[in-house]
Formats: sequence, C-alpha cells, structure tokens
Amino acid sequence: MDPLRCTRCLAAIDAQLLSDLRPLQEVAAQPAQPDPACQSWTGRFQRPSPPKLSPRKARSWRGSTVHPTKANCAPATSVAVESSRPPRRRDTLWPQLSTQQLLSVAVAVVVLVLAAHLLAPLPHGLVQFFATKPHWRVTSATGITLRSPFVFTSAPPTCPKPEQQVEFAGTFYTHTKRDMALAQEAQRVAAEFEFGPDHVRKATKEFIREMDEGLQSEGTELSQIPTYVTAVPNGTEKGLYMAVDLGGTNFRVCSIQLHGNTTFSLTQSKVAIPRELMVAKTSKELFSFLAKQIEAFLKTHHEDHYFSHLERVNTGDTKGHEVFNLGFTFSFPVNQIGINKGLLMRWTKGFDIQDAVGKDVCALLQAEIDELGLPVKVAALVNDTVGTLMARSYTSPGKTGTLLGAIFGTGTNGAYVEKLDKVSKLTSKSDAGTYDKSTGEMIVNTEWGSFDNSLRTLPDTSYDKELDEKSVNPGIQMFEKRISGMFLGELLRLALVGLLKEPKIPLFKDEDSSKNDVHSTTQIHDNSPIHQQWGLDTSLLSICAGDHSPGHRVIRQTLDKDYGISAVSAEDAEAVKVIAAAIAQRAARLAAVAIAGIVINTGRLETSSGTATTEQKTGIEPSRGQVDSSGRGDVPEEDVIDIGVDGSLVEFYPGFEDEIRQALREIPEIGDAGEKRIRIGIAKDGSGVGAALIALVAGRVEQAIA
Ligand code: GLC
Repeated sequence: MDPLRCTRCLAAIDAQLLSDLRPLQEVAAQPAQPDPACQSWTGRFQRPSPPKLSPRKARSWRGSTVHPTKANCAPATSVAVESSRPPRRRDTLWPQLSTQQLLSVAVAVVVLVLAAHLLAPLPHGLVQFFATKPHWRVTSATGITLRSPFVFTSAPPTCPKPEQQVEFAGTFYTHTKRDMALAQEAQRVAAEFEFGPDHVRKATKEFIREMDEGLQSEGTELSQIPTYVTAVPNGTEKGLYMAVDLGGTNFRVCSIQLHGNTTFSLTQSKVAIPRELMVAKTSKELFSFLAKQIEAFLKTHHEDHYFSHLERVNTGDTKGHEVFNLGFTFSFPVNQIGINKGLLMRWTKGFDIQDAVGKDVCALLQAEIDELGLPVKVAALVNDTVGTLMARSYTSPGKTGTLLGAIFGTGTNGAYVEKLDKVSKLTSKSDAGTYDKSTGEMIVNTEWGSFDNSLRTLPDTSYDKELDEKSVNPGIQMFEKRISGMFLGELLRLALVGLLKEPKIPLFKDEDSSKNDVHSTTQIHDNSPIHQQWGLDTSLLSICAGDHSPGHRVIRQTLDKDYGISAVSAEDAEAVKVIAAAIAQRAARLAAVAIAGIVINTGRLETSSGTATTEQKTGIEPSRGQVDSSGRGDVPEEDVIDIGVDGSLVEFYPGFEDEIRQALREIPEIGDAGEKRIRIGIAKDGSGVGAALIALVAGRVEQAIA
C-alpha cells in the first residue's frame, strides 16, 4: 500500500513533520513509528535541509518536500532535520491533520480564491485591502485577477491590452453609494437635456412664425433665402456634369453622369479642408486651394479633356471649345442674387475668413480657376440642402417631387419648395435677378441653423451657454449648436467635464476601476482630448447608442483608444451613454420641430399635390408610379410627403429618425396620421449630384463633354 494512502502512515509522517518544530536533540530521541500493517514502510525519511524562508514559505516548503517512497518508507530511527526554529502555534496544528482534513483545507483554499473573485462589487477600498497596493500588473494566465495577490509582480501599472478584457455579466452596478451617486448624477444631467412634447409644440409654432417673417423681410433669424431654382428634377435628366462641394469638413470634386432613368454614376475625390484655411487671413488662400483640387481632379479623371484644352489654349484655338459647367455647392449662408451669384452673409461651422464676407463666392472661385487656366465655368451656386432636395427628387420613387432637403451633419439646415407668391421679399423687389415664374414655386434655403437665435423657445442648459460663449460666432446658429454634428460631441464633453470637477462623483475615478474588466487604474491621460475644446467627436454619441455589449465594452475601448481615458468601469461607460443619449434625443426632437414647421406651413398635409418638377413625369424607366413609394404603412402614393436627408448624424446615429418621428406624432397638426405620410429617405452624396442638376435646371449647362 502506498503510505500516502495509509491514514496511519500519514499520521506518523505528520508526527515526524512536527520534528522541525523541536530542537534537533529532542527529535533524535523520539523516532517516528510506522504502522506495522503497512508493508511498504521500508524506508526512512530523508529530508533535505530547509532553506532560510519566511514562516509562510517555510510551511509550504515543508509540505512539499517530504516524499516518502517505497524506498525510504522504513522504520526510521532518526530524522535528519537541521531546523532549530522554535515551535509556532500555527504550525503545530498542521501535522495533526488527516487526509480528509487536508482535503477540507484544500477545498477551503479553493473556496477562498473563488470568493476573492466574487469580491468585485465590493467597494474599491475593500478590494484593495485584499489585493496588494498599489495596483499590480497581471502576469499569469487569464482568470487570475487582482484579487489573487500571489500572481502579481511589482511592475508599474500598464495600460490594458484589449485581449486581456473579459466580459461583464451585467452592466450598471449600483451596489455602493458612490455607484448610485454616479448613476443619479448621469440621470440628472440627462434630464437637463429633456425637450418634452410641450416644448416641441411651442418651438414648432415659433418656427412657423419665423418662416413667414423670413419670406417677407431681410435680416430675420430664419434667413429664408430664395435660391432662384424654380423646379425640382424628375429623374429623366441626362448628361455629364461637374460639381464641387465645400461643406464643413471636406471639399469634394465630382463629375456626374445622369442616366435619365433616376440613376446616375459619380466619380469623386474628397480632401479634408486644412484647419488653417478655415480661418485664413484672406479668402484667396482658401479659394486657390479649392481651384487646385479641381485641377488635380481633371488631370486624374478627365485627362483627355484637360490636356486638349491646354493644347488649344497654347495654339490660341479656343473657339467653340467646350468647358465644364460646374455646380458649386457652398454650404454657408449666402444672399443669392442669381443662379450663379451669391454674397456670403456670414461664416458658420468654424470657418472665419473675414475678407470673404459680403463677396460673391462664385466670382472668388472663378478667379482662381481662371488663374490656373482650367476649362471650367462656375454655372450654379447651390446650398447643400438645395442639392440634397434636387438629388432626392431625381432619385426618389413616386410621382411627387420632394418637398424638403435637409442636412443633419456637421451643420444643419433645410431647403424646401415654397409657393412663389409667398416669397414676397423677392417678388416685390424691382432689382431681383431673373428667374422662371412659370412653375409658381421656388426652392427656399431656410438657413434654419439660426432659428430662434434669441432663444424664445430653444432649450438653454449651462452646457449650451458655455459652448456658445466659447464658439467663433456667439449668439448665432443657436439651433445648429443644439443639433448638429459639429456641436453634440462638445456638449457631451462639457457635461462630462462638469461631472469630473465634482469630487463626490466617481466618474473616471479610480474608485470604480475595481469593476473595470482590465483591473488597472482608471486614468485620464494628460493629453486626453476630453480637456480640449471640440475634443470629443460626435461619432462617440453614435458609438454609445450602438453599443449593446455587456459592460459597454465598445464605449470603454473607444474612450481608451481615441480619448486617452483608460480602464474605465462599466458604470463610467453607462454614465457616458446615458448623457450622450439625452443629448442626441434632444437634437432629434429639435430636428422634428423644423420638419414639422415646414410640413405644416406649406399646407402639404391638406393637399395631395406634389411639387413642380422640371418636366412632365412621363417617359421615366421605371415609371415613377410603379415604384414602391408609400410612406409608412398603407399611405397612397399621392399622399406621401417626401423628404430627402443627408449628413453623418442622420446616417449614422442609431434611431435618429425614430426619435424625430416620435416628436412629430406629438404635434397635434401632424399626429399619427400625418407622421405616417412623411417619407424620409437618405439622399447620399446629394449635394454633388444636386449641384450638377441645378446647373442643368438653370439651363446653362450643355452636354459639354461627350
Ligand atoms: C450651416 C450652413 C448651411 C448649411 C448647413 C449644413 O448651417 O450655414 O448653409 O446648409 O450648415 O451643411
């Protein structure tokens, strides 16, 4: 029998193990007695000299180095133990344990280790008591955590690696007072962004009032700019056109082939506008940059035309030579005085080049194009919302033209089809430029970003105030500053920074790091963008809304990778998510105010009539009437009110349209029935296509290039 299985042998071994607690002479005088029934007890104990160890380690050494074997399991007369340590109370218990007791001890150890793992929800201070302070780097395999101090080394804290991360079972712990404090504070801040049904109704009334005011006079909050575009396309238009688009962030150059059957092909290049050009000293710096991009595009995509033009210029043979007619999408408020003429009223979206204000932006671009000798003529000036409306109308299914084109991107704005006789500030003007009156309609660029600058109905939290005060254009674009992509990230940043300043609120504080899944100290790194104006991108709001992973893993990784806030807890992430959702929800409900105002004020809910289009709605393949075109539910096609939208917010923020629709239903004039009639569709790249279409509608563009 193996002596390790023999209880009595083990008892004898245990007794012998006691020997290291006694003086050597005493032990030598009392040899261990083997059990006579054990035939295998033939050897004697051989024991190596114990190293000098701490009491705890000495115990473990003793337990692990006694190996009775068949060979040494013999009656022994003495045990060679050199230890002369005095006996300790703790140690004297050990040798008397039986196998079952040993097993019980082992089970107890396992239970303790498991219990340590379950300590996660305990307050950080308590967990730290179990762990070693300061935080240690995990050096062992997965599954061993901060609560197993044996497996840590004394290396300095390191940033977590994604692969170390493990899933949380739940999300928002509110086990401690401090967790509760964070959760409650997040809810409190979120509540500050509430914009309830009464607010929506009141703001819609104000929007309608400002719409009418803007159609009658200049210098109003809603600019209501006549665009000189008097009809929307119907999808039959054909030809190759060129367009450029100066939006908030990028400059795009495109050529568009319209196929005449509601489809088109687009070739485009896009470049980010350097920040320094947005605030350049002279407009020339910006516009010569734009002209150079057009030159590069022509060289790359229309090489033949470009070089044949150069050749003709060199030989002086330019007669009859065709030039590209270009639609210029310029997404800033412009006082349009003709289809390709418009004076810049003010900059928005962070641009600030004073010498351009009051100048004709088409002329500024044309001058730079001519300096480079390019075969391009700026034929139409277009706001991106007008382009979106045109593009949507060209591509959208159904018999009726689109009512409204709206942008919810870096900025926000809308252009809609208005009855010409309501645009009295234009019709009553003797020196107005020429425009086609036959359709009885004109597209009006509302510039709704400046709706209610005087804050009669708009919400105004402390975060809104601070954002506005520190912006380049305080007091204007107040609606835009509450809705659009350029500003929502900043609102979130200001709200979070507000919480960070509050010592009692454990946001991104180490107290919560016990519950992050990387077991590392929560840190906001010195260069974290959270401390810089515009530091948080609005895409973070979309990430928050889209993250349904346990413990909000995606949010935490984004905060770590993109924003220098490492090892945040699930509670931190939840707090960010709650506030971000409230900011975005308010933005969507405000967006609904503008949409509702236009739908109600144009009388489209009372009539089934569509808008004027460039041509009779015939000859389109497929025929518009046959395309699936209903609104929501079983709305007859002629009752559909079509809206084209574009922009990163509406495209990427999950549920933005749903929030808009919810608010629309809360407005009595629209209600459930009206909301169902509204069809909202993305007009992707609408501004480029739209600009080309407007150049066409203006009748100034021929099919310049075969
Ligand atoms: C800003 C501009 C406006 C543009 C909108 C969307 O509000 O002033 O012209 O349409 O951004 O890009």
